[in-house]
Amino acid sequence: MAVRPVVIWPDPRLREPIRKVERIDDAVRALYQDLTDTMFAENGLGIAALQLGDPTAMFLVEAKLAGRGENELPVAFINPEVLWTSEETEETEEGCLSFPEIYIKVDRPLRAKVRALDLEGNTFELEGEGLLARCLLHEYDHLSGKLLVDFAGPLKRQMIKKKLQRRQREDAAEEAV
Ligand code: NI
Repeated sequence: MAVRPVVIWPDPRLREPIRKVERIDDAVRALYQDLTDTMFAENGLGIAALQLGDPTAMFLVEAKLAGRGENELPVAFINPEVLWTSEETEETEEGCLSFPEIYIKVDRPLRAKVRALDLEGNTFELEGEGLLARCLLHEYDHLSGKLLVDFAGPLKRQMIKKKLQRRQREDAAEEAV
């Protein structure tokens, strides 16, 4: 149980192929705990396991956003699949814990329905609209290595790369002091 460092783009671990969960064991539960702790520490609405450098097919969404009680723990989506998305879309600025302080306008379906396993191994479905749909689709994208930067043009992509690499160097220098 720990807050772990979030993998920042362009780290290649964000594009690693994922592994489906065969059995929900202690390792999966421990990963869920680390994802929860890290998501809370970073004030994220969602987080995917690949963002901790772990290729397990799992992401989390903040409880209230996912329609649960305010003080509940984040909802785990294990081996998720997108069942349906609306034709109607919405374009809004989007952020990601792997792209600190970067925001990109992304056009996404307004509604989406996802099926996944919960931590008890039960199948559940969740349909969301607006921010919830956006969060579900954003986290689902992570599992196939699709990232926020893929929605940007080549010039903006270069700019983001320089900015994040500079930030990484500054962080490393600070740690060395
Ligand atoms: Ni993200």
